[in-house]
Amino acid sequence: MTPDDTLTLAHARQLLRQALLDDARRAGALCVFSGAGMSAESGIPTFRDAQTGLWRRFRPEDLASVEGYRRNPADAWDWYEERRQGVLRATPNAGHQALGEFARRHPGVLHVVTQNVDDLHQRAGNTDTLRLHGDILRHQWLQACPREPACEVATAQQGHPPHCTQCGNQLRPGVVWFGEMLPEGAMEQALQWVSASAITLVVGTSGAVWPAAGLARHARRAGAWVLIINPQATELDDEADGLIRSTAAAVLPRLLTGF
Ligand code: OAD
Repeated sequence: MTPDDTLTLAHARQLLRQALLDDARRAGALCVFSGAGMSAESGIPTFRDAQTGLWRRFRPEDLASVEGYRRNPADAWDWYEERRQGVLRATPNAGHQALGEFARRHPGVLHVVTQNVDDLHQRAGNTDTLRLHGDILRHQWLQACPREPACEVATAQQGHPPHCTQCGNQLRPGVVWFGEMLPEGAMEQALQWVSASAITLVVGTSGAVWPAAGLARHARRAGAWVLIINPQATELDDEADGLIRSTAAAVLPRLLTGF
């Protein structure tokens, strides 16, 4: 971290200390909005980093849209299966752990909103993390099941992708693809959390994907102090009150321990 980063970190700690002492503002005082960089130090690749980002090597049109999935479901299924295995092998890094431990010490103070489809925030202890882009470990039918009652996802016949022997439907990953709606009520809940916070940390996101990216501006307009933690410039830098050009696992433990 640079000397400027260290000053910003000290200021953020000071604001957090004040928020924790203020009984009227304590509940939900800290909000974290995270993206793929949050899990990078757990070995899960990001999407847009220059050398390692998934969208530098694969086409989102093929792998993150309904049309792409219908064109080539076998390859897309296998690609997600490999990512699922990567998530299951990964463990929370020091950044996730710092957030989980903070939440245990200060129940009700921290809300986590993530664009990540892994479960590392939850495994670190932030069990009520709001996932804007779904859950890669969950499956759902590609089409709404026409039967009543609907066929169970768990009964799908193994395959690439698994399919239903009753109605022929195929499984797909439970993530939000381009052009799809976010889970019902998720954005409204996220907007409420950032608006109510005294401090919003924007950790490990490029800010390229909307509507999630709008949370930073919304937080600031609602009066939160917005801190971006990211080793690179992001599309949200103009929305921030503070910037720390370092990684989640390096900064979050220093920011959150000692309270
Ligand atoms: P991106 O890949 O767009 O951005 C990752 C950000 O993390 C970049 O700004 C990096 O500089 C930063 N970064 C990398 N390593 C880091 C570290 N160790 N600590 C902190 N930051 C680090 O990922 P997202 O912004 O999450 O959609 O992408 C948004 C959405 O686009 C994703 O949710 C995904 C994708 O298409 C779905 O899965 C639906």
